[in-house]
Amino acid sequence: MTTISPDTLPDALGAPAREFISGTHRLLIGAERPEAADGRTFATVDPATGREIAQVSQGGAEDVTRAVVAARTAFAEGPWSSLPASGREQLMLALAQAIEDHDQELAEIESLDNGKPVGLAKYVDVRGAAAHLRYFAGWPTKIEGGVLPVSAPNMLCYTRREAVGVCGQIIPWNFPLLMACWKIGPALAAGCTTILKPAEQTPLSALRLGELALEVGFPPGVLNVLTGDGETGAALVDDPGIDKIAFTGSTAVGREIGAKAGRALKRVTLELGGKSPNVILPDADLDAAIKGSYQAIYFNSGQACNAGSRLFVPAERFDEVMGALAEQADAARLGPGLDPQTQLGPLVSAEQRDRVMSYIDSGREQGAELLAGGETALSDSGGYFVSPTLFSVTSDELRIAREEIFGPVLVASPYDTLEEVARRANESEYGLAAGVWTRDLSSAHRLASMLRAGSVYVNTWGLVDPSAPFGGFKASGIGREHGHDGLDAYLETKTVWTAL
Ligand code: NAI
Ligand code: MG
Repeated sequence: MTTISPDTLPDALGAPAREFISGTHRLLIGAERPEAADGRTFATVDPATGREIAQVSQGGAEDVTRAVVAARTAFAEGPWSSLPASGREQLMLALAQAIEDHDQELAEIESLDNGKPVGLAKYVDVRGAAAHLRYFAGWPTKIEGGVLPVSAPNMLCYTRREAVGVCGQIIPWNFPLLMACWKIGPALAAGCTTILKPAEQTPLSALRLGELALEVGFPPGVLNVLTGDGETGAALVDDPGIDKIAFTGSTAVGREIGAKAGRALKRVTLELGGKSPNVILPDADLDAAIKGSYQAIYFNSGQACNAGSRLFVPAERFDEVMGALAEQADAARLGPGLDPQTQLGPLVSAEQRDRVMSYIDSGREQGAELLAGGETALSDSGGYFVSPTLFSVTSDELRIAREEIFGPVLVASPYDTLEEVARRANESEYGLAAGVWTRDLSSAHRLASMLRAGSVYVNTWGLVDPSAPFGGFKASGIGREHGHDGLDAYLETKTVWTAL
């Protein structure tokens, strides 16, 4: 593997991102920046070129133990537990501001490490991360218990909402900084301390986030960052000093974490995969539906848990819709994320490209009709590009129609009636998101109630807001992030009885 040396870092990087990336990338435990106890490191790679960007410490079980001590001390004895709610609010607002003050730097780091277009990184990931912290900064001063009308005489009975404790938060590579803030926002608001484990493909922005938190005055130990891979994540899940695990990633790993958490009776929330159906009804505004359906799958190169990856189109409009989608897909500009002209960046890793290509091959082998893409692209670059791909299928049984691909691959099929399409849309182990395009209010709401999914989008796709619960039915997960529900996952309820 060739390496990008500091003087050959992509020209598009500004000085702050360049300086951060060419520094050292050790663990962040308390206020310290130790190497991993066993000295191991791993490479993080630029997906647009396949070149190594930097070496990063690979945390192990011993490092997890140290981080748990730091987080437990800050939680139980340290300044975090003695800080008033308004103090947590102020620190979280300061961190949101620091993220905005460093938006260009963070967007460049994210774009280089993940491959996504830098504009998307700035306006979706970085701005979204700050917005999320701002929203959750409003909560600490509003976490209330109640006084209960119990029947026993002369009794004062009230509830307190208390922080769950030390959290292990494991995040994926598709929106690294944003997922970090989705996780730490409610944890910090509730008064928990946390150990954040970014994905091995994209460890850099979480480390920068951890540094910014210390710079704005978070007490050491409140936010620890342990870089590493699945082994690091598993050590975090297994550590008895962790009270709650929050995970976003694959359904297979989610099942394993859920099982372990069940045995240890740790609190757990899981945001997992999806194979989300997107239904165009016969009366839809077809231009809007086509534009929206295109974005629903190809945004972030299809690497979104709520991607609209199964498209259902009325049989009589099918050819027209396929023609328009194929034309747009063929015209998409692929390139490195740091090129401002880029619409679709590379996939995050060679492994992810190979996984997506093997699904494309299986689609071809199982008789799906390829209408656009279907190939790797820009192979001279050394990057992991896959062209936006469109398949037409007549059976819902094909692997590409059932399994999460997590790449720029749309699987479309025709249907005849509303009842038929609602049934087929729900025939999935997943239930993260679903969409419907129509001008008819009653079909919109009938379908919204019939679709078994955590989010339903009507005449739009993929909107996210810190106040709007997000999560999955069925194998798409357990629990919700955002809003009240998101905060509740980090609180215990204590009932206090006092005889008067
Ligand atoms: P993954 O589930 O292996 O990785 C997600 C995170 O979990 C990473 O931080 C990883 O280091 C950690 N991890 C891995 N194994 C672990 C274990 N045994 N215990 C604790 N933590 C562990 O996902 P991967 O391999 O990166 O992607 C595979 C597929 O997962 C994708 O093709 C996609 O279908 C799905 N995925 C879904 C995401 C979502 O947002 N729901 C995000 C990323 C991947
Ligand atoms: Mg990387």
